[in-house]
Formats: sequence, structure tokens, C-alpha cells
Amino acid sequence: MLKLGVLASGRGSNFQAIIDSIEAGRLNAEIKILIVDKANAYAIERAKKHSIEYMYIDPSKFSTKEDFYLEIANQLKKREVELVLLAGFMRVVRKPLLDAYPNRIMNIHPALLPSFPGLHGQKDAVDYGVRISGCTVHFVDEGVDTGPIIIQAAVPVSPDDTEEILSQRILALEHKIYPEAVKLYSEGRLKIEGRKVKILDYKLPDNFIINPPIS
Ligand code: GAR
Repeated sequence: MLKLGVLASGRGSNFQAIIDSIEAGRLNAEIKILIVDKANAYAIERAKKHSIEYMYIDPSKFSTKEDFYLEIANQLKKREVELVLLAGFMRVVRKPLLDAYPNRIMNIHPALLPSFPGLHGQKDAVDYGVRISGCTVHFVDEGVDTGPIIIQAAVPVSPDDTEEILSQRILALEHKIYPEAVKLYSEGRLKIEGRKVKILDYKLPDNFIINPPIS
């Protein structure tokens, strides 16, 4: 069974989506630990409710960011975590953790990368006036939201959308594609070739979106 470690900073609804997939028997995995960088992260409540070990690691207690990530890597390794999931973890991962888990860290981002990387993917999409946005699950490398893409899902955007409305629309799909990406990994179906992630037994879907629809 795949051993997961989850890193979060806040609400943790993506963490919950992974928990739900495991509990529903859709994902053959076990969450060994939740690590948060904020003492009041709501994700902690979810961990408690599902009897998952959790740990708050205070970044201000470390003299360098590298030391902070080394501590995270050590805690994950101690629990034999095999795959690390960033679930609303609002920090750029540094070398000690990347070196400990090469191509074994995933992130969910609320935009269609490489558009709108960074902390405000939904607001940046609304402000830009795009017609389609969405979410991306990708492997994490040393850049900001630049690693090889595993799954993307698209949603339409209305010129009247607020950041909050678009965020909700995207979030519903985040909760679907993140567990799916982890499932593909757990089945050994993901192979990274340079920038590309090949998926074993992959079938091209025939659905797509045109927004506004053509009459
Ligand atoms: C999600 O929308 C996630 O995609 C985003 O933060 C939210 C966390 O929600 N992540 C980023 O913007 C990373 N750059 P959650 O805590 O309920 O999962």
C-alpha cells in the first residue's frame, strides 16, 4: 500500500478528498502523516477526525529555509513515506525535500499551468479575462509550479465571475483530479520523460469545452 505524506497550510479540502478516496476504497494508499506550517490550519481538524498523525512544524524556528525542509524530509522518511502531496501548501519547496523525494512530490494548482502560476491562480485568471481556466496536478521541481504535468481539468470562466466563484468551480474539479493522479501513481502508471508524464494504458478523452458555446 502506497504510503503518503501530506503538507498543507490551511483549509485542507484537497487533503479531505484524498482521505475520502482512501476510505471509499478507490485509492489503495495510507496517509502516514499530515505536516502543517500554520498552527491553526483547519487541515489539523480533519486529521484528528480521521485518526491521522499530524505535526505542526514552525518555519520561524529554523535559521534557514533549507533547515526547515530538511526537518520535513526527516519526519517523512522516519514514517517511510513514499509519495508527498502538497495540498494547499503555500510555500516553494526547497532542495533538501526535493532531493529526499525526487519526482515523488505532487502539487495541485488552481489554474491551467503554465498559465497563472503562484499564489493567486484563480484571481489572476479572472483579472486576465480568460474564457477557460482549471486546475493542474503536477510533479514538483525546483521552480514555482513548473514541474511535469500529470492531469489537468478545465472549467469555463464568465466575465462576471469573482475570484470566489471561480475558485469554487475549480475546487470541485481539484477534488476529482488529485485523488486520480495519486491513484495513477499508486498503480505504477506514471512515467516521467523529460517534461512529459507518460500514462500507461492512456486513452485520449473525446470531451472538450468551447466557451461561449457555438450556436
Ligand atoms: C486549492 O485551491 C489549491 O489548488 C491552492 O490552494 C487551495 C487550497 O485549498 N493551491 C495553491 O494555490 C498553490 N499555489 P485546500 O486547503 O482546501 O485544499
